[in-house]
Amino acid sequence: MKSQHHLNFRVRLFQCQIVCEIGNYGRKEIYSYNEAGGMRTRHIISIKDFDRDGIDRLLDQAEEIDREHGRSDALNGKILATLFFEPSTRTRMSFESAIARLGGSTLSVGSVDACSMAKGETLADTIRVVSGYADAIVIRHPKEGAARLAAEFSTVPVINAGDGAGQHPSQTLLDLYTIRQSMPIEGIDIALVGDLRYGRTAHSLASALSLYRARLHTVSPNGLELPETLAAELRESGMEIIPHDTIDDLISDVDVLYVTRVQRERFPDTASYFNVTSSYRITPEILTNAKKHLIVLHPLPRVDEIDPRVDDLPHARYFEQSRNGVPVRMAMLMEVMR
Ligand code: CP
Repeated sequence: MKSQHHLNFRVRLFQCQIVCEIGNYGRKEIYSYNEAGGMRTRHIISIKDFDRDGIDRLLDQAEEIDREHGRSDALNGKILATLFFEPSTRTRMSFESAIARLGGSTLSVGSVDACSMAKGETLADTIRVVSGYADAIVIRHPKEGAARLAAEFSTVPVINAGDGAGQHPSQTLLDLYTIRQSMPIEGIDIALVGDLRYGRTAHSLASALSLYRARLHTVSPNGLELPETLAAELRESGMEIIPHDTIDDLISDVDVLYVTRVQRERFPDTASYFNVTSSYRITPEILTNAKKHLIVLHPLPRVDEIDPRVDDLPHARYFEQSRNGVPVRMAMLMEVMR
């Protein structure tokens, strides 16, 4: 049996390798399309690959799928490769459920250690090979830029299922879908709470909301604020960003409370994680001053940032939110694979 030390070494080797690869290859811009064998290939790497009309169309399509109880043979016989080099429950399983409900099937590698990247194969070569086995690739990777690198080498569509602290576009689409089930997205006041430095779901969502003239309220532990480059980009697009010290300061002003966990896996060491964890928690008591229509969202998994007593309140929508991953990802697969 392999020791934990051996596994940790393998994971470290893998992470160093991808940093070098992104350094070597990741300079060329990949937009939502690239040319492969004379064909245009549609990728979804960042939420910024969409304009507002594109998002609205996709959400409409997801709504139609939902109304029809989510079964079709639109992607009959198509194969989706799921390459998850980081843990996942929702994203991976809802993509697998989505392709199955559309008549297709899934291929996957079990883990980093179970594929030939553990022997030193590059991500570029892995993607070239997997492109020959599947009609689209969904990839999650610990390093920012990995999905974009994959798109450079893939002859089939690539969907980014989370790249380090970068982007998580499919999560954002289902977040927007969930908001739209309760209220129009246009002009909402939304609070992003938690780890806004490393939280890729917060980054993608903030960018998307800048298309809807939303007002952004933020609360985060010290050192985990929204990256300044992203904040500057959002302000430049006309978005108002209002930082707060506590959730109590903003709770009566917002329509959506979007809570995120502290991304322990991105911290350089355990001590710096324990310095900031447990510094915020949503409770029924905090929500007593909320607007009646406020919804609480969380991309999940939660650790201890939402008290389980909140689950029974009408504000709680995070389990519907994770269920919405299926119709939204069905719409995404139809967009890139048909
Ligand atoms: N929200 C999300 O990305 O969940 P998983 O990590 O379980 O896929």
